Amino acid sequence: MQTVRQLDLLREAIATWRAAGERVALVPTMGALHDGHMALVEAAKRAGGRVVVSIFVNPKQFGPNEDLAKYPRKELADSRMLAAAGVDLLWMPPAEVMYPEGFATNISVRGVSDVLDGAHRPGHFDGVATVVTKLFNQVHPDIALFGEKDWQQLAVIRRMVVDLDLDIEIQGVLTQREDDGLALSSRNVYLVPEDRARAVALPRALGIAERAIAKGGDPEAALAQAREMLTAAGFEIDYVTLADAETLGDPVEGQPMRLLAAARIGGTRLIDNIPVNTNEYG
Ligand code: PAF
Repeated sequence: MQTVRQLDLLREAIATWRAAGERVALVPTMGALHDGHMALVEAAKRAGGRVVVSIFVNPKQFGPNEDLAKYPRKELADSRMLAAAGVDLLWMPPAEVMYPEGFATNISVRGVSDVLDGAHRPGHFDGVATVVTKLFNQVHPDIALFGEKDWQQLAVIRRMVVDLDLDIEIQGVLTQREDDGLALSSRNVYLVPEDRARAVALPRALGIAERAIAKGGDPEAALAQAREMLTAAGFEIDYVTLADAETLGDPVEGQPMRLLAAARIGGTRLIDNIPVNTNEYG
């Protein structure tokens, strides 16, 4: 696996593959890799061609009171995992390569960025959209893979790719979970054992609400019950909601729906989401 930190060297490697007619898949990450990221890598390998993984802890997507400084950084372990998984190239640009002196551009995807996490983390999705656009322009992938755990991020990127006519296939990859159902996340390392034990209430509450809604129950009652479960487990809730899966606006009759939640336990903010499978009981 080549590890590259400078843009000209990245472009050289990609140009060599392109000249040989090879396809390129990109897995953008912020490092602190876990099995969720490795599932993206495996899906990228199945897509065929070369696999590029980027690691860049993007300051533009962290708010002033968020965890940028303490975000886990594990370069050596990450690099070993990726090499063992057969990744072709690790793109690890320093901050000054990603955002050189004078950088002044912002990509903002209105609507889908403004609700849910966007409302609770102002500027977050602008930071994501800006860095992902840069990664796309740096790597020029045929396909890019993102985890469904960050469902709203995936929706923002899909919207952006359509709006900007980017010729890149966006593939969402199923959320990977611990045995008890907690979604894998680099931020799970912040959870002390007591909070880790309580955190399982998040996927459970969503699962119970999903079954109630899928069976034709009142969505508001199901969401209220989910909120009660989370509060009883010690969570402080940012949102628990049912939304249109694509726009994240109000659900639309006949269109796919998604249950999404964000809540804090012991100071750690967790997010999760699941599809509402109305066909299951239809
Ligand atoms: O999902 C992430 O790890 C990040 O938001 C991403 C897509 C790599 C952009 O920094």
